Amino acid sequence: KDVPTGFPKGFLWGGATAANQIEGAWNVDGKGLTTAEAVKKAQNHLVLSMNDVSKSSIEEAIADQTDEMYPKRRGIDFYHHYKEDIKLFAEMGFKVFRISIAWARIFPNGNDAEPNEAGLKFYDNVFKECHKYGIEPVVTISHYEMPLNLTVQQNGWASRKTIEDFTRYTKVLFNRYRGVVKYWMTFNEINAIIGGYTGTGAVDNELSLTEQGQLRYQAVHHQFVASAMAVKQCHEIDPEAKIGCMLARMQTYPKSSNPSDVRAAQLQDQLNLFFTDVQVRGAYPEYMNRYFKENGIEIKMEPDDEKIIMAGKVDYLGFSYYMTSITTASEHVEKFTGNFVAGSEKNPYLETSDWGWQIDPIGLRITLNEFWDRYRVPLFIVENGLGAEDKMTLDHKVHDTYRIAYLRKHIEQMREAIKDGVKLMGYTTWGPIDLISFSTSEMSKRYGFIYVDQDDEGNGSLKRYKKDSFYWYKKVIASNGEDL
Ligand code: BG6
Repeated sequence: KDVPTGFPKGFLWGGATAANQIEGAWNVDGKGLTTAEAVKKAQNHLVLSMNDVSKSSIEEAIADQTDEMYPKRRGIDFYHHYKEDIKLFAEMGFKVFRISIAWARIFPNGNDAEPNEAGLKFYDNVFKECHKYGIEPVVTISHYEMPLNLTVQQNGWASRKTIEDFTRYTKVLFNRYRGVVKYWMTFNEINAIIGGYTGTGAVDNELSLTEQGQLRYQAVHHQFVASAMAVKQCHEIDPEAKIGCMLARMQTYPKSSNPSDVRAAQLQDQLNLFFTDVQVRGAYPEYMNRYFKENGIEIKMEPDDEKIIMAGKVDYLGFSYYMTSITTASEHVEKFTGNFVAGSEKNPYLETSDWGWQIDPIGLRITLNEFWDRYRVPLFIVENGLGAEDKMTLDHKVHDTYRIAYLRKHIEQMREAIKDGVKLMGYTTWGPIDLISFSTSEMSKRYGFIYVDQDDEGNGSLKRYKKDSFYWYKKVIASNGEDL
């Protein structure tokens, strides 16, 4: 039998973004405030600011009508620059562009009687602009945000009622963009919910750890049901479209060959793969029963939930890949810790980014092979990239050789995995244009091929400049991954 020699024809090269990190225009054209826009910038770039949300900080955010402390309200003003930005993506030869829709542009309060036409129109225009250049949009329905009102009224995804609000929103999207959007994804990094507020819109940091575990896994159950219902709607409304899930894949290695460490790593991995097990295979895996029991977690289900989940299996598996981690056997492995990243121990064989993320290209090949072996559905790497501090020269150049080296090594491993027989649909690098960091809301953690002139305080001309990596990625796409 033949062994594939490289990237398949029609491979989906492109870049990925999220509404709350690029759009800005947080309070125009009828848009409501989102959970992401209630998160203050971090004081320290190694600290995750997304979990630092309480009821009082939400009240403070609602009262504050400026963007000074809330960089996700400004983004990079894609709302007014989308034509220019998409044109630059087209120049690089993008086949796809991943964006997310801000739920609060469509339903400002999450549960309004009618959708907001101005919000829908904005995405009509963005999709039209993509198609002008033959770029297919890949659309995340919920990327780490939701209308803040749903947090205030019903504590976000902690409430079962949110399923109803969400599926009303998704129905509007599938009807409006039928034949326009071919690739959908339901929840970005659905597993990040285990780390807290991120994406759940549910405030729980005043609860005990056990109560937090209960609330978060219950919230994710609601997302599983909502996602499965959206998959069914999508298939009914637009049978041509494909809809996937999205996992932050975090491969865990054992720190040593001691079987106890290997077992600990296996459990860590199961806690990560739990989400795709549900969304791709359509059922809760058995190994979670024991974990739930030992952690005092009980998932409340309605009689039809299991059937709904089985009927709403995804068409493809989308995932982000940035790093791997290592673990040792310890009693903590079996306990709910409230963190979604396995451990903070350093892998001596790997280098780290300036933000401490362990860079592991071979881990991507391992991940791709494991996914393919386990699930047998097309895989889509919808995020990968290097967050780094870029320096612009006086003549407006950015010599980001480190970014090129990072991406090259990952693409090489993707090619190896394809030769191993893995079915990979596409690759969208994270932040093809500099954007606001998710975890710290910094601007100075840059991922882009395109530099945006804006600093952490929001000062700057917002002008766009091509970095060295822009020309490199253009070449990669033109050669379908051969010329690296
Ligand atoms: C993923 C998210 O976790 O990683 C993105 O889906 C995020 O929203 C990306 O931006 C990189 O993380 P950060 O914190 O460096 O922006």
